[in-house]
Amino acid sequence: MTAQYEVRGAVAVITLDNPPVNGLGYATRVGITDGLARAEGDAAVKAIVITGAGKAFSGGADIREFGTPKALAEPNLLSVILALEACTKPVVAAIHSVCMGGGLELAMGCHYRVAVPGTQVALPEVKLGLVPGAGGTQRLPRLIGLENALNMIVSGEAVKSELLAVVPGQKLFDKMIDGDLMAGALAFATEVADRHAKDKSPLPLVRKLKVTHPNADAYLQFTRNTVGAMSRNFPAPLKCVEAVAASLTLPFDAGMRKEREIFISLMMTPESKALRHAFFAERAAGKIPDVPADTPLRDVKKVAVIGAGTMGGGIAMNFLNAGLPVVMLEMKQEALDKGLATIRKNYESQVKRGKLKADKYEQRMALLSTTLNYGDLKDADMAIEAVFEDIGVKQQVFKALDEVMKPGAILATNTSTLDVDKIAAFTKRPQDVIGTHFFSPANVMKLLEVVRGAKTAKDVLATVMALGKKIRKTCVVSGVCDGFIGNRMIEQYSRQAGFLIEEGCTPVQVDKAMEKFGMAMGPFRMGDLAGNDIGWYIRKRRYVEKPDLKYSKTADLLCELGRFGQKTGAGWYDYKPGKRDAIPSKLVEDMIATHRKELGITPRKISDDEIVQRLVFSLVNEGAKIVEEGIALRASDIDVIYLTGYGFPLHRGGPMCYADTVGLFNVAQAMKRFARNPLDDQKFWQPAPLLARLVAEGKTFS
Ligand code: NAI
Repeated sequence: MTAQYEVRGAVAVITLDNPPVNGLGYATRVGITDGLARAEGDAAVKAIVITGAGKAFSGGADIREFGTPKALAEPNLLSVILALEACTKPVVAAIHSVCMGGGLELAMGCHYRVAVPGTQVALPEVKLGLVPGAGGTQRLPRLIGLENALNMIVSGEAVKSELLAVVPGQKLFDKMIDGDLMAGALAFATEVADRHAKDKSPLPLVRKLKVTHPNADAYLQFTRNTVGAMSRNFPAPLKCVEAVAASLTLPFDAGMRKEREIFISLMMTPESKALRHAFFAERAAGKIPDVPADTPLRDVKKVAVIGAGTMGGGIAMNFLNAGLPVVMLEMKQEALDKGLATIRKNYESQVKRGKLKADKYEQRMALLSTTLNYGDLKDADMAIEAVFEDIGVKQQVFKALDEVMKPGAILATNTSTLDVDKIAAFTKRPQDVIGTHFFSPANVMKLLEVVRGAKTAKDVLATVMALGKKIRKTCVVSGVCDGFIGNRMIEQYSRQAGFLIEEGCTPVQVDKAMEKFGMAMGPFRMGDLAGNDIGWYIRKRRYVEKPDLKYSKTADLLCELGRFGQKTGAGWYDYKPGKRDAIPSKLVEDMIATHRKELGITPRKISDDEIVQRLVFSLVNEGAKIVEEGIALRASDIDVIYLTGYGFPLHRGGPMCYADTVGLFNVAQAMKRFARNPLDDQKFWQPAPLLARLVAEGKTFS
């Protein structure tokens, strides 16, 4: 049962009941139309109330049915709304908690609406690259005015019901109900039914209202300009303006046709596909096939953080923000003092910018304690280690943790390159050891790679995934390998960037091409920000471990000059003291030119297309290997990592989604072309077996 029917006095009550948010799936839609028919046929019923069970009125479409025949099966939402409008007895929507998307469109199809304060009201379709598709763009302006409706539809943001209720002239809510919504709705429904019975007035329909605006043309032009400028890579926001404008210029039914036309055209755009992909990918990332959703979790009430450096401080802040006490351990008091001062400075800057209330800041700091003594960690339920990236140091720390931490405590490492299984083996409880790979700055970046060791217990994994959610991270599971998912791929990307400058590009050209593609930052600006010494350190290890792997030497030459990036005031670019603006460096260009000469390379002109393809497809090829090896559970997990942790453009949906959009056949063809370039790593460009197989079968990653 996904919609319930009962009669209370003379009012029929249809209750949407499709947890978690009463999505308007097929069975629910049938439930509504059946309920309407029953109420129409029952002479004892004089009005109908529609409401939602549990935590929502309705959150809109049932996303579980997306892409299935059920999503469009009749009665579709448009038909349900027509049935509501056609009902001869007044239908009152009783709205609470969440009223979004199709849920709001449904409510606007009712004759009347009552709501409780605090309800989140939104048409969020733009966030999936769409416009509302069941009359939202035509009815909302009729109820709250052109400007308010445009703001809501273009932004997709939720507005509280009590704010909408005070919009001058609004007709969205006929009555606000403080207290018992159902009692209020029943009384209201009875009252309007009696009134209509008495004065024989027709039932009000939103479609009959008119949208007016004193200066519509100028206002719409202004909106088109601002929205266009703010949403360059996304067509949907401007299309929202177009659809809403139709509510002003066209009769209702013509406006509905316009909305439908726009909706269908947007469904086909790569941007909407990318946004929908990202939306579902993020949901899928939380699912681990062999770890059921109801796995019992371990209790984590207090967290220990080992190391108060760059990462340790940021990691601690995440837990403090979520209200969990943290004890931070260092070897020396100075290091603790420094770490503590950085945390304070971070919070103080948030207070100054008005992002954090002063009392909240104090509350958070009160949750933080520090120590030099492992004995003080014994009441913590989890320890996260963020000490130097050195296996010897990690060994010391994990042995000490094994000694003092209580049985069942989770022992996590924030290592970025070391073997989590090896670290687990330093303890007598490898089942309790896991990797939590945060990204810098750890208190800001959304991504958390959760590294599952060979022996990590399922409940440890489930607990860390849940805890990640609690501290508002996007968690993706990775198996153990060098660099895990994100950094293992970025190494290939950086190698390609190196070859490109050897062959003829400047760092500026590469960065510009990638930024035009949509990356938040090109690879060289990114290197300067993260510190070029990190890559240098990794390459030195590679030269020993994998002497056959080819790298451009330019990055090493740069580091030999001490140009580690912003922190040393110079890297691939020059920097003015205290400034972050990347200034193209003559010295670096000369250095590259000299190096090319030494290698006997005549520089060639390289197109932006080639730059983008070599860099992005290097991610794709390594990504395919990662999926095949089972390091990533699914290709879409890789997209989540790149969208949330590496500045990959959202409108492209992540590297794997982008490859699907380009066509895997075309991707593999390009790789074969790159494999013929003697200055590139020819072996690397053999399409990964998974990719080759998908091409042969005409399939995609998703
Ligand atoms: P950091 O050098 O800023 O901080 C390390 C801290 O650990 C220092 O304060 C040091 O005093 C302390 N420490 C060293 N040995 C210790 C011991 N035996 N007991 C207690 N404290 C000890 O280093 P950072 O950047 O915070 O890195 C920490 C870990 O996080 C490393 O494993 C690194 O690979 C990893 N990581 C770093 C990222 C970054 O962008 N910096 C990103 C993701 C992971």
